[in-house]
Amino acid sequence: MTPTSTFAVVTGTVADLGYRLDAERRAGRSVGVVLTMGALHDGHASLIGRAVAECDVVVVSVFVNPTQFADPGDLTNYPRTLESDLEVAGRAGADLVFVPSVTEVYPDWPVPAATQVRVSALADRWEGRSRPGHFDGVATVVVKLLAMAGRCRTYFGEKDFQQLAIVRRVVRDLSLPVEVVGCPTVREPDGLAMSSRNQRLSPAERSAAVCLSRALAAGAAAFIAGGDRAAVEATMAGVVADERLATLDYAVLVDADDLEPAESVTPDRPVRLLVAARVGPVRLIDNLDPRAGR
Ligand code: PAF
Repeated sequence: MTPTSTFAVVTGTVADLGYRLDAERRAGRSVGVVLTMGALHDGHASLIGRAVAECDVVVVSVFVNPTQFADPGDLTNYPRTLESDLEVAGRAGADLVFVPSVTEVYPDWPVPAATQVRVSALADRWEGRSRPGHFDGVATVVVKLLAMAGRCRTYFGEKDFQQLAIVRRVVRDLSLPVEVVGCPTVREPDGLAMSSRNQRLSPAERSAAVCLSRALAAGAAAFIAGGDRAAVEATMAGVVADERLATLDYAVLVDADDLEPAESVTPDRPVRLLVAARVGPVRLIDNLDPRAGR
């Protein structure tokens, strides 16, 4: 059944998406694109709002990409909330919502695309270590969805900082006609970064999850006070270790472009704090620019 929205036009085919966006560009209008896997929350709404403020026409894609799940159980359990996604996207000002089927994106499915996009090194560290193949799936589907949309500005949250770094690199390396805009993480009042995964936390785990943003704040304070990488990382790790329900995966100070450990920090070189921890059954990530404090 074709989904419908009170607010935005909904389409499911690449041909229709291309036809509509080409017509907009021919009329001199700029196109903004927000790629999502649905389960839209206020973080997504803020990306869409930014795109609406900066572009004439905004398309939001809702596609649960099967090739970026290392664990088939995660794909099966991924929340599918299309009705409310259409509502959130439309209220945030999206003009068009693209909801393709799996075979629209991968015509030979269940055989994935033979051509894969892989960003070496950047895809293997941090999140890549615990989710093998994840970023190859992300990079490949992002290139496909951006190719379907055509020339545009695309909006990604800084919350998934490694994903954003990979998308920037792919766009640059493959000379895609796309401008990538990174948008600040949207947080709950207590500092927890908004994420679709937060829905899976019990009340006790939800309280414990705030240790990630607290670790980042403590790490930023240590950095500003002149602490070296080891001191900054130990400070962050200590905050997570104090939380009984959390198990640290990594807490690191990295170069903001290539995400390599920031061995020697110079004032002109952007850096980033990254943290990942399991809280109960849920793996959470967060990050911060320690100089900007956000
Ligand atoms: O961040 C996400 O929701 C996904 O990784 C993306 C970029 C939509 C690709 O499937």
